[in-house]
Amino acid sequence: MKVAVLGAAGGIGQALSLLLKTQLPAGTELSLFDIAPVTPGVAVDLSHIPTAVDVKGYGQDDLDVALKGADIVLIPAGVPRKPGMDRSDLFNMNAGIIKNLVEAVADNCPKACVGIITNPVNTTVAIAAEVLKQKGVYDKNKLFGVTTLDVIRAETFVAELKGLNPENVHVPVIGGHSGTTILPLLSQVPGIQFSDDEIKQLTHRIQNAGTEVVEAKAGGGSATLSMGQAAARFCLSLAKAKQGEEVTEYAYVEGDGSDAQFFAQAVRLGTDGILEILPYGELSDFETKAKADMLDGLKGDIQTGIEFANK
Ligand SMILES: NC(=O)c1ccc[n+]([C@@H]2O[C@H](COP(=O)([O-])OP(=O)(O)OC[C@H]3O[C@@H](n4cnc5c(N)ncnc54)[C@H](O)[C@@H]3O)[C@@H](O)[C@H]2O)c1
Repeated sequence: MKVAVLGAAGGIGQALSLLLKTQLPAGTELSLFDIAPVTPGVAVDLSHIPTAVDVKGYGQDDLDVALKGADIVLIPAGVPRKPGMDRSDLFNMNAGIIKNLVEAVADNCPKACVGIITNPVNTTVAIAAEVLKQKGVYDKNKLFGVTTLDVIRAETFVAELKGLNPENVHVPVIGGHSGTTILPLLSQVPGIQFSDDEIKQLTHRIQNAGTEVVEAKAGGGSATLSMGQAAARFCLSLAKAKQGEEVTEYAYVEGDGSDAQFFAQAVRLGTDGILEILPYGELSDFETKAKADMLDGLKGDIQTGIEFANK
């Protein structure tokens, strides 16, 4: 199996690559690409860790080689937020980067499962889908916006509030990956009841958790370590599924379009990507209203991506 990380020298890219070097199955090739000159050095550094995962680093001119034959591609390339910015402010900088990188994916590994981390995810996934369609290789079962960070944050915050071990807490998070489009389904957390106030406060905290990190880093970027962990979890699930294990993860994917063309929900993964998109079940009144209130915004984000890719 070959796993490629595009943007591998960045904050997320390095954390993610470290976790993949130590946790991918033996025999996997880990291919690191970034335009930053330090990239070959990141690969050499990781290569000294004694695991049977073979790491190679590629710079600026070697995107095609980095991607050739990859089974899984993760893309955290781009610019992160600074205080005062929301994820849509990143659009102008990151849209073109995603378009170029996904074109190269289509040319070199058209059958790969692709996880987009670059923000604004609500829009960059729509750009990626359009680019893959233009190249005639789009498979909606193989394109994912990585929203795992919303899930792990929700689990952490619920566990913190209720004094539980976060490893035993499971919180469905659906919708999109920005502000109010992030919708944690607190009514469906097994075995835990919340007051109305707790629901309001937790929902707000989960939706704004990225900003908590951006402000705490005071201009030094956005979530990188927790995001590295989240992306590694997602990638390892894809890798397990490729090896025949059935795994369920939440991701922002193209489903039946009943909410929006792309929508984050639970997906059952198999050897060829999504086997099945799982229904999210019944929502509480609070969740039903929150979903209705955010759908126009999410659809607008998606439309922005479609228009960018086709202009
Ligand atoms: N999906 C999520 O939950 C989530 C969470 C946090 C951050 N993000 C997003 O992830 C992205 C990366 O964040 P970061 O903190 O790692 O940023 P960073 O600036 O630390 O790293 C980005 C890396 O991308 C590289 N890069 C830029 N253009 C490139 C190109 N054309 N090809 C290859 N590499 C390129 C840069 O050289 C840099 O090494 C941002 O868009 C950020 O908003 C997503």
